[in-house]
Amino acid sequence: MKSDMQKSLTVLWQDRVNDRAVEIDIFNASEEPKKLLDLLLDKGLLVPHICSGGGSCGTCMVEILKNDELLNEPDEHEQDMLNSRGWGPKARLSCQCYFKTNSLGGSDKL
Ligand code: FES
Repeated sequence: MKSDMQKSLTVLWQDRVNDRAVEIDIFNASEEPKKLLDLLLDKGLLVPHICSGGGSCGTCMVEILKNDELLNEPDEHEQDMLNSRGWGPKARLSCQCYFKTNSLGGSDKL
């Protein structure tokens, strides 16, 4: 049973292969911080990640539409990349951001 305290963030990803926008609510059910890219891949989204999470290719870019406070702040390297590409303030490199903590409230888990 889902907890009422469950917190998810809403991610918008541009699937360029299938020419569609994918909006997905996602949360971290793990006890450990998890990279957003890994959570999206676990959901079956084929988010490109050409540099294997090195933060240098930009192919894993997503936009965070809701509850971005659940994620770490962009570090200087990520911020430089986002600025250099001219992406908007909602853009993040999914390989460089992670849920700070388990985002499930209470003791209920899926
Ligand atoms: S996988 Fe290359 S920047 Fe994220």
